[in-house]
Amino acid sequence: MPIPNADLATRVAELKWYHTFDLPGGVTTPGMFDHRRFVTKLPFPASLAGKRCLDAASADGFFSFEMARRGADEVVSLDLPDPDAQDFSGVPRKRSWAIGPGRANQCFALVREATGLDVERVDGSVYDLEKMGLGQFDLVFLGNILLHLRDPIGAVQAVRTVTRGELLSVEPVSFPQTMLRPFTPTGQFSLGDENTFWTPNLCGHRALIRAGGFDVIAAGGPILQPMGSLYPTRPDRAHLPRSLHEVVYWSFTRPFGKATSWVRASPIR
Ligand SMILES: C[S@@+](CC[C@H](N)C(=O)[O-])C[C@H]1O[C@@H](n2cnc3c(N)ncnc32)[C@H](O)[C@@H]1O
Repeated sequence: MPIPNADLATRVAELKWYHTFDLPGGVTTPGMFDHRRFVTKLPFPASLAGKRCLDAASADGFFSFEMARRGADEVVSLDLPDPDAQDFSGVPRKRSWAIGPGRANQCFALVREATGLDVERVDGSVYDLEKMGLGQFDLVFLGNILLHLRDPIGAVQAVRTVTRGELLSVEPVSFPQTMLRPFTPTGQFSLGDENTFWTPNLCGHRALIRAGGFDVIAAGGPILQPMGSLYPTRPDRAHLPRSLHEVVYWSFTRPFGKATSWVRASPIR
């Protein structure tokens, strides 16, 4: 039974959204990230008919629902039930921006109800994939997660144990490190912004995937990953940019998006 538009708009307004979704009746969720055009630049197959797909670390599930829209036979959408279980939550003074346990699950559930798309939600950690008994997948999507993990290679190794087909990994990359060292896998270490540990350069992203036990089939980027309407578009007058990082953020990243790399890979047998 479709949700009446006024009810849907009210329920959308009650939640804090990570992803921007176009829902039925012209209702759009205000998200921290807006992947609606970005997804068209990624090498997702036009049809996923016959495929069993996993969206690991899916947040509100934008890419899970996209895979369902593309006709996947089955989509599993995995994320932690509690944002405070994320690796960086133990870092002093760093708390998750995601408000409260279950936030992403609530957004996910509303999108599923509103769209009627058939996606299974599973609570769990990407590190535990091997022992979760989810079976094997033809396509695993891993988006914007390795930079938040203390053990990105361990996570990719865990993904390998459930990948019988392909991995599509999409990650922000350090633009300066990509320019300075285009042929050397390297990264930018940070505890200062967006709960990030290592942001690889372009070459480093590919190396992480190989280190996790995959052969790279194809890779691309940097492409720009736009932020969503929930982020302010200009700095607060009382807090003008005070570092090079903040100047780059307000003059480049916020208006144009994050430099991002994609890698398609198959598990080494
Ligand atoms: C930056 S969001 C990316 C969401 C989505 N994949 C995308 O590309 O837009 C990172 C997500 O990873 C989840 N996450 C963090 N650590 C995780 C872990 N160990 N296992 C599963 N999910 C995790 C967080 O809860 C959050 O929803």
